[in-house]
Amino acid sequence: MSLLKIAALGTPVLRMRTQELTIEQLQSEPIQRLIDDMVATMRDAPGVGLAANQVYLPLRLAVVEVQAGDDQDSRERVPLTVLVNPRIARLSDATESAWEGCLSIPDLRGVVPRATEVDVEALDRAGNPVTIHASGFFARVLQHEIDHLDGYIYLDRMPDLTTLTYVKEFERYWLPASSAS
Ligand code: NI
Repeated sequence: MSLLKIAALGTPVLRMRTQELTIEQLQSEPIQRLIDDMVATMRDAPGVGLAANQVYLPLRLAVVEVQAGDDQDSRERVPLTVLVNPRIARLSDATESAWEGCLSIPDLRGVVPRATEVDVEALDRAGNPVTIHASGFFARVLQHEIDHLDGYIYLDRMPDLTTLTYVKEFERYWLPASSAS
């Protein structure tokens, strides 16, 4: 397994709409190895999600995992999920605003409204169709990652940029308030 270089904001592949994988491509050794490498890269970063175009490959593939003990109270644990050719089948009308960051935009955090519930249709890494119903933080991460695969980043989803903050200032000014509630 190897760690992959993460593309930073400004890299054109982050703004590309990614290409769906065929079953043959998905089941090939290079793509299975890529999935393992993406999981390792996400865990090493550490992050809660990683899209293939964040590692320079314009493929419709992402991995998501939220491990216990992450640095924000609102994060429920999410088991490792591999999303192949995912598409959002349903978004709730209800939305919720919460902080997001992104491995391609290091050191920044911002408040982003997202649908509170989402249904995602995808293939798993073996090529089996799956429907994922998610709410809360899992729903947020899925929307963030699928946005990546469509060439969008969370800054595009911020209604205004006034909450944008560096991580250091986030921890100094905003995290104490949010964890005290
Ligand atoms: Ni991201």
